[in-house]
Amino acid sequence: MNLSRISLRPFKLSDADDFLKWASDDKVTRYLRWNTITSREEALAYIEKFAIPHPWRQSICLDDQSIGYVSVKPEQGDDTCRAHVSYVVSAEYWGQGIATEALRMAMCRVFKELSGLVRIEALVEVENKGSQRVLEKVGFLKEGLLRKYGYCKGEIRDMFIYSFLSTDKIM
Ligand SMILES: CC(C)(COP(=O)(O)OP(=O)(O)OC[C@H]1O[C@@H](n2cnc3c(N)ncnc32)[C@H](O)[C@@H]1OP(=O)(O)O)[C@@H](O)C(=O)NCCC(=O)NCCS
Repeated sequence: MNLSRISLRPFKLSDADDFLKWASDDKVTRYLRWNTITSREEALAYIEKFAIPHPWRQSICLDDQSIGYVSVKPEQGDDTCRAHVSYVVSAEYWGQGIATEALRMAMCRVFKELSGLVRIEALVEVENKGSQRVLEKVGFLKEGLLRKYGYCKGEIRDMFIYSFLSTDKIM
């Protein structure tokens, strides 16, 4: 994969068909908090109601075709110094360095674009080895194991917490 083909940009309603391609795949949504979607209407509603108004959600694009997202959501009030990151790539493109590249691009931009942000956190299920590797490759620090921390798809799960500070070096 020539990683110069990867870019980040805001979502558009016209991404609905591309979004539906991967968001309808249980393998992809398994570790995400939202459920697999099944129709173009749901895809459009998701983009319109969540992706576009989101404080910082970028479509991961391959030659401008939407194949996933990277999202950074700041906490509210006094805690806007801290944000949560999540990302996903269509299964068709797994294992080609795309999530790592997209997360690196996001870390280069987001501290400049969200004022006051100093810490980005990621919570990853213990079984999600691919996601842990992505975070480690970009330079996130594994801070520990949070036991029975997060509810996802019918179960309360143990999760690793990782962080990246505005002063950390992107690897
Ligand atoms: C996790 C995910 C984003 C990885 O995307 P990707 O584009 O395949 O990741 P990359 O190609 O950049 O891989 C980075 C590293 O992880 C490794 N990796 C990827 N998937 C892996 C897996 N299932 N098991 C072990 N290692 C894996 C790759 O080999 C690579 O390491 P290397 O360079 O040392 O070989 C993708 O699998 C996905 O979208 N999963 C579903 C959504 C999800 O889990 N999101 C994260 C929620 S916390």
